[in-house]
Amino acid sequence: MVARVIPVDDFDLVIFGGTGDLARRKILPGLYRRFWSEQMPPAARIIGAARTDQDSDAWRAFVREAIEEFVSPAKRVPETVEAFLDCLSYVPIDAMGTDGWADLRALMRPEAVQAFYFSVAPSLFGPIAERLKDNAIARDDARIVVEKPFGRDLETAKALNATLATHFDEAQIYRIDHYLGKETVQNLMAVRFANMLFEPLWNAQYIDHVQITVAETVGVGGRGSYYDKSGAMRDMVQNHLMQLLCLTAMEPPAHFEPNAVRDEKLKVIRALDPVEPGDIVRGQYQAGADGASYLDDVEDSASRTESFVAMKLHISNWRWNGTPFYLRTGKRMKSRMSEIVIQFKEPPHNIFTEAVSPRCNILTIRLQPDEGIDLRMTIKEPGPGGMRLVEVPMDMTFAEALGPEVADIPDAYERLIMDVIRGNQTLFMRGDEVEAAWGWTDPIIAGWTRSEHVPLPYEPGTAGPEDALILLYRDGRRWREISA
Ligand code: BG6
Repeated sequence: MVARVIPVDDFDLVIFGGTGDLARRKILPGLYRRFWSEQMPPAARIIGAARTDQDSDAWRAFVREAIEEFVSPAKRVPETVEAFLDCLSYVPIDAMGTDGWADLRALMRPEAVQAFYFSVAPSLFGPIAERLKDNAIARDDARIVVEKPFGRDLETAKALNATLATHFDEAQIYRIDHYLGKETVQNLMAVRFANMLFEPLWNAQYIDHVQITVAETVGVGGRGSYYDKSGAMRDMVQNHLMQLLCLTAMEPPAHFEPNAVRDEKLKVIRALDPVEPGDIVRGQYQAGADGASYLDDVEDSASRTESFVAMKLHISNWRWNGTPFYLRTGKRMKSRMSEIVIQFKEPPHNIFTEAVSPRCNILTIRLQPDEGIDLRMTIKEPGPGGMRLVEVPMDMTFAEALGPEVADIPDAYERLIMDVIRGNQTLFMRGDEVEAAWGWTDPIIAGWTRSEHVPLPYEPGTAGPEDALILLYRDGRRWREISA
């Protein structure tokens, strides 16, 4: 099977923060890959805008290096790289002042789709939005893309939303959560809503519990100053894990259309119960054989910020009453592994003997590594010797099921940027969703601050603090092994 690529319309994409780390690692290599796959039209323009005083050639050299570092050799065809670099220009710009804006206006074309990527600190969102309007650069159909962190609590998120709303309509604002651009995350919707098999069972009557794990092996070294002010709750749970939870738990939307999907996600966040303090475990990694401790990685040697969090959640609605959702995420864990696990209940009556009781069906949606879907079923063990039951996987690793070309899956960022150009907001967060997520997160963080809560230490290369295991043991359940 060959992957189908549908070219997008001609566009002008301005990247504010065009010399930054995200641009270098994700945005620019991603755009190159879309160019290589012929999805990006050769006439499209990418304009870097940042404080650095340099010309377009200097920025092209920076982009060339980024491509060399972050694009696989098979896709780094010299003529294609040169053709891509020809689409690039650069404008030195003062986000807080007046310099550079006239130059930027001169580069914009009247007919092409207009997109402005704010890959900058949130404090610059307002000044940039204002200047785009005051200098008559952004048209009424322009799209703006904003990066996380979208605020650090409900109050700051509301203020950011209000600032952006002064200059742009909600339909023009694309708030990125790159987890929504991951292939398997979208597949979750396909599995649920394009098959008859699962949806009738997708409720508290048949599902025992749900586990969502996002485990990373990296620490916070290099990003310590940002991370120490955030912690796992703000950095991962409020956004990425919350989005995974929403897509798993939401009601079927009437259409696969931005507001229909986002309305359903919002209802899930609003139905979340406040979390009991005893249902959350916070951790902080210690030093290990191959790396520094969390406290060595950040400036504040007495920091109480968590690098791990595990929790048990309840969704108060008809579908989920009685089915707990367990979430966990952490740095410096055993393996890099992200998955959503749906554990079904046992059959109501065992017709077999005790010794051969059927196991629970488990549906696993693997985000990384080896994106795919796996369903565990109980069957008879082949051969003579009476009825013996055995658990077997029905494994749909995409690379195996669909072939390497289709499974050469675009990075989340490149997919989402193409959605911006297409004008499709389905995989972006709406302002009210972000606010609702902060509204749920804030009291938890405030509780920790009030009680001066100290995270539990955990060994790097493990599944986090022991108490996270106990969170499930005490309910008679077990986390899935964290394995690559
Ligand atoms: C980012 C967080 O949003 O997501 C990082 O700020 C985290 O701390 C990263 O490492 C994880 O993304 P991925 O795609 O590597 O799972």
